[in-house]
Amino acid sequence: MSGAEDTPPDDPADDPGDDTPRPARSHGRVSIAAQAARQGNRPRDLMADPDAWTANVITLFPDAFPGVLGLSLTGRALALGLWRLESIDLRAFGVGKHRNVDDTPAGGGAGMVIRADVMAAALDRADPALPIIYLSPRGAPLTQARVRQLSQGPGVTLICGRFEGVDQRILDARGIEEISIGDYVLTGGELAAQVLIDAAVRLIPRVVGNQASLTEESFSEGLLEHPQYTRPSEWEGRRIPDVVMSGNHAAIAAWRREQAERLTKERRPDLWRAYEGRATGATMDPTKDRQLSGASHQAGQHPAHDKDEPR
Ligand SMILES: C[S@@+](CC[C@H](N)C(=O)[O-])C[C@H]1O[C@@H](n2cnc3c(N)ncnc32)[C@H](O)[C@@H]1O
Repeated sequence: MSGAEDTPPDDPADDPGDDTPRPARSHGRVSIAAQAARQGNRPRDLMADPDAWTANVITLFPDAFPGVLGLSLTGRALALGLWRLESIDLRAFGVGKHRNVDDTPAGGGAGMVIRADVMAAALDRADPALPIIYLSPRGAPLTQARVRQLSQGPGVTLICGRFEGVDQRILDARGIEEISIGDYVLTGGELAAQVLIDAAVRLIPRVVGNQASLTEESFSEGLLEHPQYTRPSEWEGRRIPDVVMSGNHAAIAAWRREQAERLTKERRPDLWRAYEGRATGATMDPTKDRQLSGASHQAGQHPAHDKDEPR
């Protein structure tokens, strides 16, 4: 009854006849922020703020965290306590001698499904103040607007699926939002969770040194970013455009805007239509406005998106 990834070592303390989800002695929670602090050079007075933005991650692979989040800006911010990461080991809530977390799909079919009772027990260990998101290819597409909204809240509890996913009843019972990072299928939700956390954490004040870079990048104004250049001024016969080297800041800003609009129009007609609609502002035809709003699945699910989402 167990998937290939579902074979834990025996624990003599387990009661083989007991099928009730129950946390292991560690209670399944690991504070990665505390580990980062111990391993780094962080002085004691910079210990993590208990109110810092927090990610609780429910996963069968807690060793996958912090992963890439432990590097560079997000890793430094984690060590400084600007955000906190706690993994919750789903295996600790598995049932029976082998702490099974999954079972065969009701009605037949390939693969295994994560049990609702096991996931419920793990969710009970998460911070109840945090919204819960299940990373899922069926979910609403992750957008910068949703990321911004999450970064401004207390944090998030993320469920990383494996196998065929999780029993629908836990999603329904807890009203859990589903978010996808793209139209493709990953082996598990851990990489998707790291994508979402990375995107949110970099918007937390002080994580990225130059805050201006956050307002000038792709999606921040509903446009893709303009082309970027750096030294040398000529490489393989290709010169940086004269206007960029002109020192005329107004001309550079105008050129960047033009390029951002061109790229958006060419590559993302969906974004371009929404940007044009927003640009017309108060004079916008209400019929057209309604059509744009209705076309946004995300905006329908999360009204607060309207603040950032291009319309
Ligand atoms: C093999 S997938 C399950 C796919 C599922 N049977 C389906 O067809 O929708 C296992 C897990 O990977 C994660 N996952 C896969 N693709 C994802 C995506 N595009 N976005 C977010 N999470 C994804 C989810 O947590 C999912 O439960």
